[in-house]
Amino acid sequence: MNSNTVFNWTRLTRQAEGLLSVYRHRNSNAANLSALMFSEIPDVSWVGFYFLENGALWVGPFQGKPACTKIDLGKGVCGTAMVSGKTIRVEDVNAYEGHIACDAAAQSEVVVPLIKNGEVVGVMDIDSAQLGRFSEADAQALTVLAQVYLDSID
Ligand code: SME
Repeated sequence: MNSNTVFNWTRLTRQAEGLLSVYRHRNSNAANLSALMFSEIPDVSWVGFYFLENGALWVGPFQGKPACTKIDLGKGVCGTAMVSGKTIRVEDVNAYEGHIACDAAAQSEVVVPLIKNGEVVGVMDIDSAQLGRFSEADAQALTVLAQVYLDSID
């Protein structure tokens, strides 16, 4: 995809809805959504999930290089999105104080909190080796994808 081509988020969202519509399984649906996103979204180095368990975020299904196993609440982009309940878009991770570098190649990222029945249950994280890879529109589309996931689980 060159810079003149707009990525078709609507198509990917429809694909995700289809893929996750069969079973309401938290891990399986997270695994398949990670794989779909990693294979379809251009210039992504890591995509996956962290889930809240015993007061910390633990890595769940993902695609990409091995990642930090545990992230404390309030730490890094993930722990901050978890605590704030807000999507965080980082254009340059080097300029984000407290960013946790799981993969030295990552340059920009978006973290979407997963809010189910009013409670933040984890986060969805997507990284790129490109600076400023994700626009505000991309972050909004990723928030919609996270919602597709949330609607697919109990
Ligand atoms: N960069 C994240 C850590 C998770 S990895 O990127 C997969 C953070 O600062 O929370």
